[in-house]
Amino acid sequence: MKTLKDKIRFEGRVLSSQVLKVDSFLNHQIDPRLMAEVGKEFANRFKKENITKVLTIESSGIAPGLMAALELEVPVVFARKRKSLTLVNDLLTASVHSFTKNETNEISVSNQFLMQDDRVLIIDDFLANGQAALGLVDIVKASGAEVAGIGIVIEKSFQNGGSLLREKGFRVESLARISSLEGGVQFLAEVEAALL
Ligand code: G4P
Repeated sequence: MKTLKDKIRFEGRVLSSQVLKVDSFLNHQIDPRLMAEVGKEFANRFKKENITKVLTIESSGIAPGLMAALELEVPVVFARKRKSLTLVNDLLTASVHSFTKNETNEISVSNQFLMQDDRVLIIDDFLANGQAALGLVDIVKASGAEVAGIGIVIEKSFQNGGSLLREKGFRVESLARISSLEGGVQFLAEVEAALL
């Protein structure tokens, strides 16, 4: 997705060989027009999958998840990372370990919002080691629903999340795939991307 790649090129800051900062349009300030385009692109890529629900995780997954759900005309549910005052009963939970932050969070979704006959599109902002996406997959499975696909705004292809999820048979669509952050942002060439 060219607009997204341009935005990453011009506004992204490489913090280390592992971490890209995109606070000006995705992780802190949010660019609504870009998110609308992101939503359209996800909807277009998954339009044949009969999606009935979008599932994402707070906080930075909500903006792209919401815009994809708007386009697909389905509800969006976000997994919570913290205990909620009102979300107490009938929870579907999964444990998510972040290698980046070296912490484990229990994420939860009310079973009220995922039904056995749902076809779920999982959306997240970043794909690094794939642990958040796998946690969401566990939650979908626990509800008896089906994972129809996984949509990622920015995939860091040099980390193993993408291959882990694809090897498990999931259809993963990433709108920008970064092959390296060494000496600046390098995107995976389209031809190369098609083979992976
Ligand atoms: P994983 O789920 O793919 O295994 O990722 P990991 O644990 O490594 O990521 C932990 C958090 O850091 C996630 O956000 C993830 O989106 C974010 N993250 C990972 N790599 C990068 C990166 O290169 N740049 C940026 N900006 N974020 C990255 P989170 O803690 O859940 O934050 P938020 O959703 O509340 O904003």
